[in-house]
Amino acid sequence: MPDFCAGDVLDSITFVIDGVAVAATPGESILAACQRLGAKLQTVCKGRGICGACRVDVAPEFLDLLPPPEKNEARLLNYLSPGVTTHRLGCQIKLDETLDGLRLRAVPLTVRT
Ligand code: FES
Repeated sequence: MPDFCAGDVLDSITFVIDGVAVAATPGESILAACQRLGAKLQTVCKGRGICGACRVDVAPEFLDLLPPPEKNEARLLNYLSPGVTTHRLGCQIKLDETLDGLRLRAVPLTVRT
């Protein structure tokens, strides 16, 4: 059973990251919800989509529910996670009702040389 991070959020969407359930409001990004509630997800660029520190590994059954990555996100993911189709940037995924129950793992921050 996951731990639970929540404010009293009406019309909330719940997603689970590293076994911790997080309540979010529609339109909020995964990164923003994690930061608001103290759940663990890193950022260097503060959600501008340029650092890759917020990478998450999306459970395969949810991949088709996500919009495809935009050009800059796809380019960064291709650089940081070449050939991995389940990684996305937590700062670029906006939550909506279709993603209620989304399951993720935070991808450890690594430095490519
Ligand atoms: S927080 Fe930097 S890419 Fe998402």
